[in-house]
Amino acid sequence: MKTALRNLEMTVLGLGFLGLAWGKSRLNGYSTPNTVAKSDPDGQIAYLLDIFASLRRFMPPGFDVRGRDVLELSPGASRGNGVLFLALGARSYHAIDVFDLAGGEDPAFYQRLLARFPEGNAFGRARASALAGAASPRAFGYAVGRDFDIPRLSEGRQFDLIVSCAAFEHYDDPASAIAAMTQVARPGCEAVHIIDLQTHSRWIREQDPNNIYRYPAPLYRLFAFPGQPNRLRPADYMSSFETEGWSDVRFVPSRTVDPALREASLSGLSAPFAGRDDMIILDGALTARYPGKAGWPGAST
Ligand SMILES: C[S@@+](CC[C@H](N)C(=O)[O-])C[C@H]1O[C@@H](n2cnc3c(N)ncnc32)[C@H](O)[C@@H]1O
Repeated sequence: MKTALRNLEMTVLGLGFLGLAWGKSRLNGYSTPNTVAKSDPDGQIAYLLDIFASLRRFMPPGFDVRGRDVLELSPGASRGNGVLFLALGARSYHAIDVFDLAGGEDPAFYQRLLARFPEGNAFGRARASALAGAASPRAFGYAVGRDFDIPRLSEGRQFDLIVSCAAFEHYDDPASAIAAMTQVARPGCEAVHIIDLQTHSRWIREQDPNNIYRYPAPLYRLFAFPGQPNRLRPADYMSSFETEGWSDVRFVPSRTVDPALREASLSGLSAPFAGRDDMIILDGALTARYPGKAGWPGAST
């Protein structure tokens, strides 16, 4: 009874947050890719170092970025990850987004970021700084297109590593993005995608992390806006990667619902989500390798 009442309260409050997110998007467009303000460079640096460490933690053991071409999907406010990949010896970094949130970033920010990056060597950091500071679009690229046409925005490049953070859950059609991404993956390409599955609006995210899953699709869609979390679950993403021929497809959870909130968070969910074992997963990383098997189109011989 207590849980049912709490869930009713969260469902009503959550509707308010859905409305707020919709209204904010109508007023400001897509403007705040993460919780750190663009005017807070130290906060941004801490955020980037944290994300970069997570991306590396999920890469295959022993994976060496030296000499690799790296693609980041939806970098949001900064291409800082690219600078760090270059510092570790990546041959190139290219980023693709639908919103131009990282355009016109001050190269001085990259210097500050590199100064706080304890890894790699002095030569790598100097090279990264030079490439990111100069107009060198082949080595440090950025392409924005509202159609999110990944092959076109890749401008003829192919990649050995494709990463993203907190991006896939915002895609309108992740299956198409995965198919498009596959077209620019070199044989042996590794993918690491950190995906945030939980409610995004602050406050309610802490109280009721599965709040977005409480609403039937037609009601949830009433509040749709560009970038609204798509509510796909790890198995949905994994199946799209497998369909496109990626192998060793895994989803490794990072955070799960706090035990104190578990009973409430798993009850009162809308039909497609109710009773699913995976609803305790709040975020994690999908990793995969392309191509799937020898003989798959594009496989190296
Ligand atoms: C939450 S932000 C994450 C940005 C960055 N990776 C970070 O960790 O701060 C989501 C990213 O997805 C992009 N995005 C939002 N809606 C999208 C859509 N419908 N299709 C493709 N990308 C989208 C945004 O431009 C943004 O870069």
